[in-house]
Amino acid sequence: NLTGLDIRAEIDRLRKERNAVILAHYYQKPEIQDLADFVGDSLELSRKAAESSADVIAFCGVKFMADTAKILSPQKIVVLPDMNAGCSLEDACPPDKFRAFREAHPDHIALTYINCSTEVKALSDVIVTSSSAETILAQIPADQKIIFGPDRHLGGYLNRKFGRDMLLWPGVCIVHEAFSETELLKLKAQHPGTPVAAHPECPPHIIDHADYVGSTSGILQFAKTFPGDKLIVATEPHIIHQMEKALPNKTFIGAPGADGNCNCNICPYMALNTLEKLYVALRDLQPRIEIEEGLRLRARKSLDRMLEMAS
Ligand code: 13P
Ligand code: SF4
Repeated sequence: NLTGLDIRAEIDRLRKERNAVILAHYYQKPEIQDLADFVGDSLELSRKAAESSADVIAFCGVKFMADTAKILSPQKIVVLPDMNAGCSLEDACPPDKFRAFREAHPDHIALTYINCSTEVKALSDVIVTSSSAETILAQIPADQKIIFGPDRHLGGYLNRKFGRDMLLWPGVCIVHEAFSETELLKLKAQHPGTPVAAHPECPPHIIDHADYVGSTSGILQFAKTFPGDKLIVATEPHIIHQMEKALPNKTFIGAPGADGNCNCNICPYMALNTLEKLYVALRDLQPRIEIEEGLRLRARKSLDRMLEMAS
């Protein structure tokens, strides 16, 4: 029973006591973003996890992100406030099916989005995040055959932009899939001239209306540099918290779903983490990420290749 407890003060006390670092993704609730030691996109969070000198990482994000932290920093205790914080892309790509797909295409390399299980990372050649995918793909020779999974929209976007024909795994992000083109066009008509920034997990009918396409940190950077004072944001709406903090004089409007508002685009997995669960995770050092060492080392190879190629 946590009633009467000053949760924020307790989290601060435990963070010091345990020499813990709290890492949060931009899709976390504002109250979690505000007390995190670092807020970032998937690539930045991976780098922070690898570099940190903390003994404990409290990862406020989804499971594949906490798994990545553990793969890169096995000596640290990595806790995830809610172990059920998964991802529809990870769910769409079971390792046994992915292995069969790879075996059916022996002359292809596997370029794989970080939103996948540790097993799928271990079956892949190079991992990418949305902020590193373009830099990495540009280094792969044009005649090299590639399979790309699990996000077919990110893969399709890369294929179109780079004129490639990577074979795409059919996964989607249920959050970015939910934006409505009809409602977006209505919103654009209500705010003439307002640019749209979109995440590459969006389907092409949303990307086609975007003035900027990039990762969460890319979209945040665009928000800071575009010349206007209003921006339509086609990604998970909790990122708007950082935009409003950094740019109080600009207006940010979440792109709508079919019901005309952006609440249906809240990631249900990210939303499972709460301050209360973060407190319990720091107190009990549970739920904890554990990965079998052989599997970890295999997954680490493709992640290390990403970190080398992305820099
Ligand atoms: P990035 O923060 O790397 O852009 O990823 C977005 C996302 O959907 C993570 O699940
Ligand atoms: Fe997965 Fe989409 Fe949620 Fe990101 S927003 S964690 S891709 S379900």
